[in-house]
Amino acid sequence: MVTEVARVPLPTPFGPFEARAFECSSGNVYLAMTKGSVDGAGPMLTRVHSECLTGDVFGSLRCDCGIQLREALKRIAAEGRGVLVYATGHEGRGIGLVNKLRAYVAQDQGSDTVDANLHLGFPVDLRSYEDAAEVLEVLGIRSIKLMTNNPKKVEALLHHGISVEEVQPLTVAPHTRNSTYLNTKLNRLGHNGSLVSPKPLETTPVDIRKLLGAVRPRDDRPYVVVKYAQSLDGRIATAVGDSRWISSEPERMMSHSMRAHCDAVMAGIGTVSNDDPQLTVRLVSGSSPIRIILDSNLRMPAEAKVLTEEGTTVVLTTERSEAQRRRELTERGAEIVVLPQGDDGVDLGEALLYLRRRGIESILVEGGARVITSLLASRGLADRLVVSIAPSVLGSGVEAVGDLGISEVTSGLELRDPTVHLVGRDVVLGADLG
Ligand SMILES: NC(=O)c1ccc[n+]([C@@H]2O[C@H](COP(=O)([O-])OP(=O)(O)OC[C@H]3O[C@@H](n4cnc5c(N)ncnc54)[C@H](OP(=O)(O)O)[C@@H]3O)[C@@H](O)[C@H]2O)c1
Repeated sequence: MVTEVARVPLPTPFGPFEARAFECSSGNVYLAMTKGSVDGAGPMLTRVHSECLTGDVFGSLRCDCGIQLREALKRIAAEGRGVLVYATGHEGRGIGLVNKLRAYVAQDQGSDTVDANLHLGFPVDLRSYEDAAEVLEVLGIRSIKLMTNNPKKVEALLHHGISVEEVQPLTVAPHTRNSTYLNTKLNRLGHNGSLVSPKPLETTPVDIRKLLGAVRPRDDRPYVVVKYAQSLDGRIATAVGDSRWISSEPERMMSHSMRAHCDAVMAGIGTVSNDDPQLTVRLVSGSSPIRIILDSNLRMPAEAKVLTEEGTTVVLTTERSEAQRRRELTERGAEIVVLPQGDDGVDLGEALLYLRRRGIESILVEGGARVITSLLASRGLADRLVVSIAPSVLGSGVEAVGDLGISEVTSGLELRDPTVHLVGRDVVLGADLG
């Protein structure tokens, strides 16, 4: 038995919804976020979302819940009608918040998400979908297009009398911190396709985790992947600095998936001044990494998109920057960190040590030329190189890698265990740096 107890318009970043609260006989209060007329004809686009405080509210990277929640609302908004039923009491597959946190501790000690629940004395999944089915029924919805990767949810809703006409996967680009969890859902809980977003899956066979290599942060620095897109003749931009876009759209989606995997993305102030990038995850569903900008003198433009767009930005600078500029950028929402000066700007060893100490495990370095060169020249500060090679020739322009002080071919950087992929029209090579 569910009873509707409140109904109110709720404006959201995904447009206006109507929030409808239901008291369930189980004692839980469910919220239905509806868009448009939901009692009309045809199967209704529907998400039954299991409450996950850590993922939904805090954006925890241990799971994919928050991203799925927002992706579902976005899809309902795009469709113009539909419903998201927010199932409270489903926290931690029904074991509650505290036990879920305890299960995380067990996972940190080596259990996977299934064994962790079993070790705590709980079944693998305690969720019931009876209340959700009743809420749908009260809303006048009997036939749905369900957004889920979980076949058990489909079965349960069918069992409770809801006709699931279509299942739409809700896949997200994984993060290095939740890919094991997503793999367990895939292999042990029978979930579908959690590993790669549907769009890149259609266009690229790349397993992003293989491309990134084995993510092994060290004590004194994160795992560092240097990534860029170049023309066949080794340019990452034309002579006037234009780099949009050297690579194809599927390659850029792959890059966004790589971003979504990593804790942080790093670029130099040259790239920020020249390209004004956002450095967020937009082309696939995934969480945006922390943005790290190397900027010794705080040349950062006040209107730079890395400051204005959603997300966290850390600007690493040196004593050369003015205190007034530091204050201005702090007011713009950036975190300013003063580090020692190195040969090429901010001392990269110190920068990586600082980032590791604040908990960052993986960094994707996305240029530009001077930052790529300093990292490769440092020999020992980067773990992996991923280069996308576009079938175009630009002639003179910005070369990807500058002088490394190498005079003999045999002294060149050795790349180990290369993997090669075709992504759209681009060849993508990933290899470990020796
Ligand atoms: N195709 C691609 O994949 C791709 C990707 C990114 C960029 N790009 C292109 O690359 C070009 C920009 O290259 P860029 O070399 O000017 O930009 P960059 O490497 O992004 O930035 C270089 C600047 O960062 C600062 N910096 C601080 N610490 C540094 C350190 N340890 N090592 C190196 N730099 C440090 C320096 O300025 P201060 O001395 O003032 O601190 C330096 O001039 C643009 O044309 C852009 O389009 C292409």
